[in-house]
Amino acid sequence: MRVLVTGGAGYIGSVVTEELIAGGHEAVVYDSLYKGHREAVVPGAKFIQADLMDGETLRRALSDEGIEAVIHMAADSLVGESVGSPAKYYRNNVIAGLALLDAMRDCGVKRLVFSSTAATYGEPEKQPIEETDPTRPTNPYGETKLTYEHALRWYENAYAIRYASLRYFNAAGATGHCGEWHNPESHLIPIVLQAAAEKRARVEIYGDDYPTRDGTCVRDYIHVVDLARAHILALGILDERSSIYNLGCGGDGYTVREVIDVAREVTGREIPVQMGPRRAGDPAVLVASSAKIKRELGWKPERQDLHKIIESAWAWMQKHPNGYESQK
Ligand SMILES: NC(=O)c1ccc[n+]([C@@H]2O[C@H](COP(=O)([O-])OP(=O)(O)OC[C@H]3O[C@@H](n4cnc5c(N)ncnc54)[C@H](O)[C@@H]3O)[C@@H](O)[C@H]2O)c1
Repeated sequence: MRVLVTGGAGYIGSVVTEELIAGGHEAVVYDSLYKGHREAVVPGAKFIQADLMDGETLRRALSDEGIEAVIHMAADSLVGESVGSPAKYYRNNVIAGLALLDAMRDCGVKRLVFSSTAATYGEPEKQPIEETDPTRPTNPYGETKLTYEHALRWYENAYAIRYASLRYFNAAGATGHCGEWHNPESHLIPIVLQAAAEKRARVEIYGDDYPTRDGTCVRDYIHVVDLARAHILALGILDERSSIYNLGCGGDGYTVREVIDVAREVTGREIPVQMGPRRAGDPAVLVASSAKIKRELGWKPERQDLHKIIESAWAWMQKHPNGYESQK
């Protein structure tokens, strides 16, 4: 298939592109580089630098490149920022996302895999979270992703654009070429590894009085390659139906302390920590169930072990001590 990857110069999008090419597909990366990195665009992919709001370039990309499907990863995704700047999140995650759907409708592209988020569930009533659980987002990031999912349903109804929406928590890990380099960084594993590499003084733990194994929050981490493969697998159902799938680590998740301990083992470095108070709105446990995607699509994550995830992220960080050179 010829696939347009929006946000393909970002962390997960670059690995999706890598996996598409490895699987014999052709990939066109569409990214404004507003957050992504030119160096993250995988060799072998065509690159178009433009914003989703640039309707003319987008329509030209879809029709001139003979695009058959879109994997939509371009978005803003910082929970805290979204609370202070909801307008930014509605503009990019909803309005720019709708501009993509309109361009797909106009150009006759009928398949979309959407990178959603498990933040659509808000504070879940039970663990692990299933697709049938209520969606009650507690921040504009989750709300805008859910709003987009609702739009997908109506665009399918009216314009026959089929979609697969993937909801997950924390992507982690790296490949040889692609790794995680955000600025600012808000994800635990890169933060912990930056502390191991002495690029930050310490890791702050937000609360150790939760009702969990060691008092710190439990979270779900998925290796970015397993995640990328799920996106590509999801392309396969779009001739038949639309669906929503959760992606989770398949176990009980890991506490913040467990992540830090594994990172100490993998790196052999000191990782100073500082205990801080709880953050408002942080649930004790967030773990998603992958039962549905395993059952229906045969998704088989191969890199679930936290050691493997952290080893790959550490190897990438050592090869790229300053991340991508164009880091802004
Ligand atoms: N990283 C995670 O743990 C995680 C978890 C759940 C869901 N997601 C979702 O996965 C997707 C990718 O996440 P990521 O961590 O790789 O993000 P990222 O910031 O690394 O990548 C996003 C890319 O999209 C591009 N982009 C953003 N808005 C654009 C626009 N309007 N036009 C063109 N390009 C644009 C940016 O330049 C960037 O390269 C996002 O949609 C995010 O919500 C991520």
